[in-house]
Parts: sequence; structure tokens; C-alpha cells
Amino acid sequence: MAEQTLEGKVILITGGGRGQGESEARMCRAAGAEVVITDVLVDEGRQLAGEIGATFLEQDVVDEGRWDQVIGEIMAEHGRIDGLVNNAGVFLVKAMTDTTLDEYRRVTEINQTSIFLGMKAVAGPMSERGSGSIVNISSIAGLGGAGGSAFAYTASKWAVRGMTKAAAVELGPSGVRVNSVHPGIIETQMLEHFVALGDDWHSRLRGAIPLGRTAAPGEVANMVLFLLSEQSSYCSGHEFVVDGAMRA
Ligand SMILES: NC(=O)c1ccc[n+]([C@@H]2O[C@H](COP(=O)([O-])OP(=O)(O)OC[C@H]3O[C@@H](n4cnc5c(N)ncnc54)[C@H](O)[C@@H]3O)[C@@H](O)[C@H]2O)c1
Repeated sequence: MAEQTLEGKVILITGGGRGQGESEARMCRAAGAEVVITDVLVDEGRQLAGEIGATFLEQDVVDEGRWDQVIGEIMAEHGRIDGLVNNAGVFLVKAMTDTTLDEYRRVTEINQTSIFLGMKAVAGPMSERGSGSIVNISSIAGLGGAGGSAFAYTASKWAVRGMTKAAAVELGPSGVRVNSVHPGIIETQMLEHFVALGDDWHSRLRGAIPLGRTAAPGEVANMVLFLLSEQSSYCSGHEFVVDGAMRA
């Protein structure tokens, strides 16, 4: 039985400066991995990297050229990349009829196109080694209609789910696994967007969760760690839901 250790592995986490990415970075480091955090939040990313002994690189995940540079730097430093967590994302609470084309494109670029770019950038080095694990952070919004209040976000998170499956089939023969994680309501700064739903947003959300509470970022990070580790050696192409039974 393989242990849930990441000893000897090199893991890249996008959007790792705060929230769930931060928690994943802390836990991967504690599990023995060399961790590279990227983010547009330079101060937060640098501070966290210094604290946990990780590397921080500034990266806007929509910039294709920057992906090549980041992977190039990791290969030059470590000679390998074992895990990629495509975690960076943005939220938009807007119904379809209120969403502008610019807003739709922005959410799509950051939440969807970036994941294509990230998977494409690591596919070569991972395939050459014959192993690797890519974890794409989708959402429960990628499993249903999200109440109609987050149209562009929902579309992008469904796309993540589809891209994950297509990439898992494409990269499987090279020994590379690809999975999607679908968090429910997680206590990060992203929840601030729900204020738009009214003063009672928090109790209304909680009321929709059978376990009766929102989750801490570490509860998602536990799942991500499992998928990065050899404990999930036969898991690929599927959805891993962490939602307190919200979509049950
Ligand atoms: N919080 C939730 O309830 C929840 C639920 C389901 C899914 N998610 C998903 O989890 C992931 C992490 O979100 P979070 O909850 O930690 O929120 P968060 O807002 O705290 O973190 C998002 C991170 O992504 C970074 N980011 C945004 N745009 C970027 C860009 N263009 N390039 C690089 N980095 C960028 C931000 O700077 C930030 O560090 C996101 O993909 C989000 O959609 C969150």
C-alpha cells in the first residue's frame, strides 16, 4: 500500500498565494514535496514561500509564454515536475442575462484557458518521465447549474471537467494521470462575492449543505494531496467531490 507521501516529488501550484492554493502548498511541503507556488499576488506568494521553504514565481496563468518560462525554470532547477495543481481561479456572481461578453471572456481565460495552457506545458516533461499527476480545480458549479447565479463561472468549471477527461485519455498511455476536484463552499476570500446575494447569504448557503457547515481549505487540500500521491495511482479522468453532500 503506497503511503500518502510526496517525498521526492516536485509540485507546481497555481494561485498558491492564498486560500486553497496556500493550504495545498503548506500540506504538500509538509508531505515532503519540493513546492513551487505561482500567483499574481506577489507579496502573499513570496511571504508564504519564505515561510514554508517553497519557491515563488510570479505568473499570470493566462500568459502562454510565462507558462513555458515557469516550466523551464522548474526543469532547470529540479530536472523534473511530478505534479501540477491548476488551482488559480476567479468567481463572478452574475446571471447569464447580466453577464457582459468581456466578463465572460475574462472568467473563461482565467478559469478555463489557463488549464489548457498548464496541462499542455507539463505534458512533455511528465510524459518523458512516464509519470505525473495533474489536478484541475473545478467546482460543484461544474456538476450542476449553480442556481443560475454564476453563469460564466459555471460554464468555465464544466469545461475544466471535460478537459480533464479528454487529457486523461490522451495522456494515460504516457503514464500521466489527470483528475478534477470539485469543492463545495470553502472558507476563502472567494466567498466575499456572495455578499451580492444579500445579507443572509452565509446562513442560506449553510442551509443548503447537508453537513450543515462550510469547509476549511485544508479539507480540499487533503483530496488534492491524495491525487498527487501514489495512493491514487489508478485514479484518472474522474471527478473528486468535496462538498459536504451539497450535490448528493
Ligand atoms: N472558495 C470556494 O468556495 C470554491 C468552491 C469551488 C471551487 N473553488 C475554486 O478553488 C480555486 C481556489 O480558489 P479559493 O477558494 O482559494 O479563492 P481565492 O480567491 O482565495 O484564491 C484564488 C487564487 O487564484 C489567484 N489568481 C486569480 N487570477 C489569477 C491569474 N490570472 N493568474 C494567477 N493567479 C490568479 C488569486 O490571486 C488567488 O491567489 C479556484 O479555482 C476556485 O474557482 C473555490
